[in-house]
Formats: sequence, structure tokens, C-alpha cells
Amino acid sequence: MTTAESGAAAPRGEQSDGGALQGKVAIVTGAASGLGRATALALARAGAQVVVADLDARGGREVADMVGGHFRACDVSDLDANRALVEFTQEMYGGVDIALLNAGVATGCGVGEDFDPARYHRAMGANLDGVVFGTHAVLPALRARGGGSIVATASLAGLAAVPLDPLYAANKHAVVGLARSLGPALAPENVRFNAVCPGFAESRIIDHLRGMLSEQGLPVIPAETVADTVLRIVTGDGTGECWFIQVGREPEPFRFRNVPGPGKPVGV
Ligand SMILES: NC(=O)c1ccc[n+]([C@@H]2O[C@H](COP(=O)([O-])OP(=O)(O)OC[C@H]3O[C@@H](n4cnc5c(N)ncnc54)[C@H](O)[C@@H]3O)[C@@H](O)[C@H]2O)c1
Repeated sequence: MTTAESGAAAPRGEQSDGGALQGKVAIVTGAASGLGRATALALARAGAQVVVADLDARGGREVADMVGGHFRACDVSDLDANRALVEFTQEMYGGVDIALLNAGVATGCGVGEDFDPARYHRAMGANLDGVVFGTHAVLPALRARGGGSIVATASLAGLAAVPLDPLYAANKHAVVGLARSLGPALAPENVRFNAVCPGFAESRIIDHLRGMLSEQGLPVIPAETVADTVLRIVTGDGTGECWFIQVGREPEPFRFRNVPGPGKPVGV
């Protein structure tokens, strides 16, 4: 059984995996459901104190109760709300060590006849601004602790073309670019920045795709697999990595290759 498969956090002081994150404080955005919920539970089981942030107060309070932590209402597309979330966490626990910037939505429109500016801004706000604003807001708190770890939930849609939802692909590719660039940029400050890139994973975000997935026989990744991968990243030492997660494969950092440099290829 994975660390998160039991569905509930272990009682405080009885962490099942030795408490690798004992004494650490984590913020998880979009933690009221799905992948964020599973990861909040996994972080708590590893000993972290967790602040559950979401727009959804009912789901968020439920998860906060399960992890023995606190819920904070937060719209991640609002910079001041991100700052308030970090301040709240510092007031509650004295600092922040880990931020999982995970809140996100499917777009619900394309760029042609079906373009809808409100849906576009909502998706870019949650999926991209949420990561940029969350990072900007949490950096001073991580620096104050001498470093820390940020993990952004990107997607396989950040590594591959997604004709079904091009705008989702656009903001998830942006998150992948941020992770690859902020990893080395923040390394001198002892802040690690990585991304996870799951394929179709168990959560309500794929509800509108379930018919297509079962018709095409496409398997769905358990949310706990994503949670366990985040835990591996947080307890590891890599940075600037984008971990793909797919059914039947061991999650690992995606190896970006063959970006052309200047000049002729060697041997031509
Ligand atoms: N499930 C998948 O197949 C899959 C695959 C790859 C990546 N992802 C990404 O995983 C992340 C989590 O999604 P999920 O699959 O668990 O879906 P989900 O709908 O179960 O969870 C998303 C959570 O984010 C919250 N949220 C949305 N907009 C917000 C905002 N502006 N501010 C604060 N909270 C907000 C929602 O209330 C919800 O609780 C998203 O970034 C999503 O794009 C999901």
C-alpha cells in the first residue's frame, strides 16, 4: 500500500513512513479534492503540518480536519490572496518549508468559435498565475527558513500536444518552462522548484472525459500515485525537474532532448 492509499492521515505522532517531513510546514493549494487532497494526506502522513488552501471551503475544511491542519480560503489567481495564505501559515506554524502549487481547472473553451474570454482568464489565472503568484508569495518565507521546496502540478499536457484543450496545454507548458528555469535560478538560495506532469489521473477534473477514456481503454492514474511522486520529490534533492507520471511506468524526470543550439549540427 502506498503512503496515501489508506485515504486518511495517520494520527499525529504515528506517521506510517517514519515521518520524513516531521517539523516541516506545507501549503497545498487546490487541496479540497483530487490530487491536492491525496497529496495533503500524504504530506501529513509523512509528518508535515499542512495548510489546506482552496476556493471550496466545504471540501477544504474536511481535508483540513483529516490532516489535523488548517483550511484557508484562497483564490490562487489573486496575488494578495496568495500573500495572505503565506502570512496565515506563518502565523499558524511559524514558517513555511514546502508549497505544492496544485490548484487548477480544465479550460472549457478553445480559441475558435468557442473562445470565451472569461473561461480563458479563469484557466490561465488558476493554472499559470496560481503558480507564479504562489511562488512569488512564498519565496520570502522559504528564504527565511534557509530554503525549501516548491512543487507545481503541471500535467502531461505540459509535455505533449493536447488538441482537445489547447489552452490547457499552453498554461501547463508554461508551468513546465517555469520549473525548468526556476530550478537553477533558485538553487543558490537553497529553494528547489520542480513540477509533476501526470497523465489522466483520478479526480473530478476528468469527469467530462470518462466516456472517451473508457471507449479508448485508457487507464486512469490513482491520485495516490501522484501524491507519492510529490513526496519523493519533496524528500529528494533534485531541482528544475518535470516528473512524468503514467500508468504502468515508474515516475521519473522527463528528459528534454535535442533543443538545437547555434550553428550547424556536428558532422554536417
Ligand atoms: N486529474 C488529472 O487528470 C490531471 C492530470 C494532470 C494534471 N492535473 C492537474 O492537477 C491539479 C489538481 O486538479 P485535480 O485533477 O485534482 O482536479 P480537482 O478538480 O479535483 O481539484 C482541483 C482543485 O483546485 C481548486 N481550484 C480551482 N481553481 C482554484 C483557484 N482559482 N483557487 C484556488 N483553488 C482552486 C478546486 O476547487 C479543486 O478543489 C490541477 O492543476 C490539474 O490541472 C490533473
